[in-house]
Amino acid sequence: MTQRIVLASNNPNKAREFGQLLKGSGIEIVPQSHFQVPEADETGLTFVENAILKARNASAYSELPAIADDSGLEVDALGGEPGIHSARFAGDEASDADNNALLLERLRDLPDEKRTARFQCLLVFLRHEKDPTPIICQGTWEGRILYNPQGENGFGYDPLFFVPEKGCSAAELPAEVKNALSHRGKALRCLVERLTSWQP
Ligand code: IMP
Repeated sequence: MTQRIVLASNNPNKAREFGQLLKGSGIEIVPQSHFQVPEADETGLTFVENAILKARNASAYSELPAIADDSGLEVDALGGEPGIHSARFAGDEASDADNNALLLERLRDLPDEKRTARFQCLLVFLRHEKDPTPIICQGTWEGRILYNPQGENGFGYDPLFFVPEKGCSAAELPAEVKNALSHRGKALRCLVERLTSWQP
């Protein structure tokens, strides 16, 4: 029997990525748009709180188990900012370009060794709305903030995120290379492993 799980995201790329990784596992990923789930209020102070809020909201509306993720960029010289505010760093309506411009401005004149940063991804699985023991997986990707954007792939802060092991920005990596290294890829593989041994 196929077990359906709702994905608390309106991003079709995420739904496809999960679907591919769970192929043949007996688990079917259903985007939350199928259940007209309204946006959850992300009022948490941590990635994991926000991921739980999103998963709980999707589970409540769909009456299915739910997966949610929350991710962002931590910059050491900014005390971990933009962190959970990564999508809205330059304001509520900010574009990726606005956020990147503000980040460069904040780090202006800072030398290479002080530009350390990492992406964080928290993934949460709730068996039901009131599940007291969620499955939680975290993935981290270490890098440095560049002085200028480089590359056209990816999204968000990718053009400014230097990947030391590849000697280029995240936006210069093909998608499959980014997935193999990234915070999201790591968290996703951890969750898939734990889900495939999960018995509903
Ligand atoms: P969300 O978890 O999809 O809401 O992402 C939060 C924000 O963090 C995004 O809007 C991006 O600004 C940033 N972010 C998260 N993951 C990545 C990534 O893989 N590359 C670049 N930016 C990212």
